[in-house]
Amino acid sequence: MAVATAVAHPNIALVKYWGKRDIPLNLPAVPSLSLTLDRYTTTTTVHWGNVSEDSVWVDGQAAAPAFRKRALHFLSVLDARRPSCRIETTNNFPTAAGLASSSSGFAALALAALAASGRSMTPAEASVLARQGSGSACRSLWGGFVGWSMGIRPDGTDCHGYPISRPDHWDVAMVMAIVSSDKKSIGSTQAMIRTAETSPLYLPFVEQARDDVIRATQAIKDRNLDTLGTIMESSTFKMHASMHAAVPPVMYWKPATVACIQTVLSLREAGISAYLTMDAGPNVKVLCLQREAQAVQAALLHHVEHCEILKPGGDPTVTIHE
Ligand code: PMV
Repeated sequence: MAVATAVAHPNIALVKYWGKRDIPLNLPAVPSLSLTLDRYTTTTTVHWGNVSEDSVWVDGQAAAPAFRKRALHFLSVLDARRPSCRIETTNNFPTAAGLASSSSGFAALALAALAASGRSMTPAEASVLARQGSGSACRSLWGGFVGWSMGIRPDGTDCHGYPISRPDHWDVAMVMAIVSSDKKSIGSTQAMIRTAETSPLYLPFVEQARDDVIRATQAIKDRNLDTLGTIMESSTFKMHASMHAAVPPVMYWKPATVACIQTVLSLREAGISAYLTMDAGPNVKVLCLQREAQAVQAALLHHVEHCEILKPGGDPTVTIHE
């Protein structure tokens, strides 16, 4: 029984995952593709045994009941007969605000729990485990550009992330306009269920996802920002349009979200190759070349107080303490 710490970076989807074909296993209705970010991290330590009772700590405070339950259940997925465990986790960026904290969160928890419990798994197997905590977490097992294949097996053992290219493949940046750091109004699983069940626009999103991933993968290999950005925006707007047409609507946007969207479109008219994406929250993330990132940031700062430039990030790391 040991103690281990894992550090993982969040990822932002360029071709979006929205909707599940199996809810308990987090099997997606679509394939997707993402970029892992540098600087933002989740650091998670797991004590596997040698503690008198289960406990979960977030930023040094006892975790809220819902998160505590979710995190401990995740350890029981790994080992139904596990000993009592202590989980300590901290993010250096806002949690549950559409900044992909669940992706780095469950990737770090999976890796720390595997190491602390003395199990060894391939990255693909660890990705299958992380996916069961939060779907997008299966892509945070690698740095750089990462895909997530749907797989065909009902048990999900072939549904995991796979690396596409290393972080230094391409000097792109993701400029994060933080419209709000508040927790999201509706969690992604409930929002996905409502969209799939009620939105007439959901099917076109699903039908085009496979082609979007194939074309985006080629654009990454070719370092073709205009092609990749066009596919990313199309995937984003198809996803959000399908949410907006759900009953009742799933609306994450705020007025400043729309102002940031308009700004990105204007930047393109002015000759800057900047393309936007959004997740289950109001924040706008803009993909551009690193050499143009400061111009993009300056334009977005007219509408938001906080705007940060992130670059492609690396693989997660794991340390075993005893
Ligand atoms: O991993 P979840 O359940 O938080 O879902 C995330 C879904 C999006 O962030 C909106 C899109 C994606 O592909 O990450």
